[in-house]
Amino acid sequence: MDIDTIGDWLRTNDCGSLRKDDIGRLVVLMGWVHRRRDLGRLIFIDLRDRYGLTQIVFDEDYDAASKVKAAVLRSEWVIAVKGEVAPRLAGQENPELPTGDIEVKVKELKILNEAEIPPFQVDGKIDASENLRLRYRYLELRRPALLNNLVMRHRIALTIRNFFNGQGFLEVETPVLTKSTPEGARDYLVPSRVSKGSFYALPQSPQLFKQLLMMAGFNRYFQIVKCFRDEDLRADRQPEFTQVDVEMSFADEQKVMDIVEAMMVDLFKTVLGIEIPRPFPVLEYTEAMGSYGSDKPDIRFAMELVDCSDLFASSAYKAFSSAIEQGGLVKAIRVEGGATFSRKELDSLDSIVADFGAQGLVWAKVRSDGWQSTLAKHLSPDTRAGLEKRLGAGEGDLVIFVADKAQQAHEALGSLRIEMGKRLGLLDNSTYSFVWVVRFPLLEYSHEEGRFMAVHHPFTAPLEEDVALLEERPEAVRARSYDLVLNGAEIGGGSVRIHTLELQNRIFRALGLDEQEVQEKFGFFLEALSYGTPPHAGIALGFDRLVAIMVGTESIRDVIAFPKTQRATCAVTDAPSKVGIDQLAELGLTLIKP
Ligand code: AMO
Repeated sequence: MDIDTIGDWLRTNDCGSLRKDDIGRLVVLMGWVHRRRDLGRLIFIDLRDRYGLTQIVFDEDYDAASKVKAAVLRSEWVIAVKGEVAPRLAGQENPELPTGDIEVKVKELKILNEAEIPPFQVDGKIDASENLRLRYRYLELRRPALLNNLVMRHRIALTIRNFFNGQGFLEVETPVLTKSTPEGARDYLVPSRVSKGSFYALPQSPQLFKQLLMMAGFNRYFQIVKCFRDEDLRADRQPEFTQVDVEMSFADEQKVMDIVEAMMVDLFKTVLGIEIPRPFPVLEYTEAMGSYGSDKPDIRFAMELVDCSDLFASSAYKAFSSAIEQGGLVKAIRVEGGATFSRKELDSLDSIVADFGAQGLVWAKVRSDGWQSTLAKHLSPDTRAGLEKRLGAGEGDLVIFVADKAQQAHEALGSLRIEMGKRLGLLDNSTYSFVWVVRFPLLEYSHEEGRFMAVHHPFTAPLEEDVALLEERPEAVRARSYDLVLNGAEIGGGSVRIHTLELQNRIFRALGLDEQEVQEKFGFFLEALSYGTPPHAGIALGFDRLVAIMVGTESIRDVIAFPKTQRATCAVTDAPSKVGIDQLAELGLTLIKP
């Protein structure tokens, strides 16, 4: 720690650093009154700063004057003390505190600032509502839990920067006041005063600029960068969030995946001391959907989806055979030991399936004397044996079936799989399972827009062997894309880019964009493509999500110093807020009355 001064006092130590070896030293500490115990002749205070806690003692016999002053101290007052490091009395040591062997006997006290009674106790004994904690975030940040998350965030960012620097990447800042880049969310707009009636968009990502940097010949770029998306919030989504954005020239998917894997291995080793095995497993999108019912499969546990359609094709159980007749399928998961779930516990699964528009689920408990299930009376002993064999199911297991169109069946069963994993305690947060999901569909039809839309973004290259399908069967074209998934969370996505003008124009046409729209939105980019663009590829990692998983928290809010609330507001500053008519007029704006 640097030596800080207040007047003629030098701060010799922080509140986490004193040990037995320091006994006898005269020290100066500065910090906040964390807890205070007044025993009459003695006053004990836990003095806190971001480095830790140190017990300081005011003793009438030792220094009567500072003892008198100490009597007025309250929680969160800011003080400086000068005193001597002393051993704690035998039996009074605190093994849970790194400074727990010593205390500081105060010779002199300076009160640097008083404090109002805080709206909640910083020492965390009584918890407060989330709203209150967000409103007074700077007080919550005094607590070790949040503080440690931010210290980790800093270390993670630093390690990532060092890694990319070591690999010859340049960190380049790209504009924040810019033009809209489509990443599938709404833009935050900023009105221009100089060009009235025109707007900047805050970047949803630096996608186009990083590609321009490749055209500029920068070869290897990265940036730890804020991105802005006006979309509905969830635990893993914030309107402003941070990406580790990466782009490489003369690179293909393998090159990018290799660099990212090496970075993750280095990061987990350096920050958590954990060895992550390489290479990471790779699943094609269709495999991920088929086997895990998700494009972000949590592979910490197996419980894969098993196709049982053929065994039900001529079944007397109409719900299943008719789903198959209509081109759907019947899939199942085996939940090991799941026969112990009660009827009530199993009934609660219906709502999960309903969320995916699937028609319903059927469960079966495998018992020694047959199956307990609405299916049981429709199954021949042979079919039952065939199902048990295929699923590897035995006595005491639970089997859950969903019959529907492929997508609904997969998604519904995929989320049942996660639910079962949770209920059985299979989601171990100390395990880190990475998996790549590659070759997503390039385009998907949007009924809302009445046209095809890019699944990632319109600069993603199609798989060469699929290019011929672009006009006839756009939905069948696969992308040269890769998503990185960690413990069931999408922590990154990227692709090989289109680097020829001709193909880029063809994709814009497949997206149903007319010439004029393309020129207005992307004219500058198409022009740039024509001046010598190297083949290039890249990725962006969701930094907040990565940090959240590494510190073991569910919500990315816990790793952001000043996050937005569920309603996308800043509880500390109360943004967004109204502005004056004058300010609007200057921007050439008037408000429409609701
Ligand atoms: P994409 O849109 O997949 O790709 O974003 C990359 C990663 O950013 C994270 N992420 C978010 N994190 C928190 N809050 C949000 N609202 C949010 N939205 C996205 C996710 C995601 O995987 N330009 C491309 C990347 C590329 O092609 O190189 C892009 O932005 O973890």
